[in-house]
Amino acid sequence: MTQLSRPTATAPLPIQDRFGRIKRKLRISLTDRCNFRCPYCMPERPEFMDRADRLSRVELSRILMLFVGELGVNRLRLTGGEPLLRRDLEGIIEDAQALRPFGLERVSLTTNAALLEKRAPALKAAGVDDLNISLDAMDPTIFAKLSGGRSIKPVLAGIVAARDAGIPVKLNAVIIRGINEGEILPLARYAARENLPLRYIEFMPLDGRGEWTRDRVVPQADILEHLRAEFAVNALPRSNDPAAYYELDDGNEIGIIATVSNPFCASCDRLRITADGSLYPCLFSKNGISLRDPMRNGADDAALSKLIRSTVWNKDAGYAANPGYSDRPIAMNSLGG
Ligand code: GTP
Ligand code: 5AD
Ligand code: SF4
Repeated sequence: MTQLSRPTATAPLPIQDRFGRIKRKLRISLTDRCNFRCPYCMPERPEFMDRADRLSRVELSRILMLFVGELGVNRLRLTGGEPLLRRDLEGIIEDAQALRPFGLERVSLTTNAALLEKRAPALKAAGVDDLNISLDAMDPTIFAKLSGGRSIKPVLAGIVAARDAGIPVKLNAVIIRGINEGEILPLARYAARENLPLRYIEFMPLDGRGEWTRDRVVPQADILEHLRAEFAVNALPRSNDPAAYYELDDGNEIGIIATVSNPFCASCDRLRITADGSLYPCLFSKNGISLRDPMRNGADDAALSKLIRSTVWNKDAGYAANPGYSDRPIAMNSLGG
């Protein structure tokens, strides 16, 4: 572990963009590699970055200290690719615990859970606060189609293991017309049985294969209609979460992340960093700004902070201002979903 000291004695000046959106959440991708090949995310022939290009554990520690101690970020989400492919994941989570006195409230992980069963206790011991787990279908054949031929079994075992280890879990399901709308109800039933919050995600125009079309999106209104065939659905008050939440009459909560039909960009409080250390202020940003290169060339914290503040200040309005297919050059697996 590196020695951490807060760069300034005063409370951090929150980081914001030119639209007045304050950034509190940082999603940091730990690898662009994945043991799944979800067609809505991975290119057909992915070219993965060299390990030497990835931020090391020490570099991650420095960047995270800067974002929390100097720039006012209070929630971290570790993503991938698949973050469980990083063997030093538990170490990275442990390092992040040193940021709690500087304002860090939450360290979360987004995972496909296939490798989770064995590692759930170690993740808990390292201090992870919660997990978001992708589960797009209950039917094994449809699950395989949406994961590039993988089995659902270890994923379900991973979910149980996380719960047994005492880690709160939320489920994420990307819904694509013609593939898994028929899974909306089975997923809701499973989530209710297991007492887990479930969020449906509209298919976003960021897939690695360029297969997105608007008619393949199952919009929020249609997802609700599927649910109403079996449940009474009551809207809950909105928060800063990307999902709109509803209570079903079985008592369980479901959410819908409606980036396409009802974008929430006006309240966006997130930033993203790729595994090779590029800062993308928006999920739909065309380019990232490398933090790794100046860092490896000896930039001090003040210079890095200045670079981050100016990049974030210039963040675009987002998908809401420019909807439709995104020709962003990197795919979702590189940007952490
Ligand atoms: P919490 O709010 O902390 O639970 O996390 P999250 O919802 O950001 O995390 P998760 O990794 O589970 O993301 C689920 C999905 O939400 C992503 O795949 C995206 O589809 C969507 N999402 C997350 N952040 C953003 C964002 O900033 N913009 C848009 N448009 N979608 C987002
Ligand atoms: N549209 C919507 N969600 C996506 N994810 C990955 N690619 C897409 C896409 N094109 C989601 C995954 C996971 C999260 C990290 O990103 O399902 O829940
Ligand atoms: Fe934020 Fe961009 Fe997502 Fe809109 S599209 S919510 S601005 S990251």
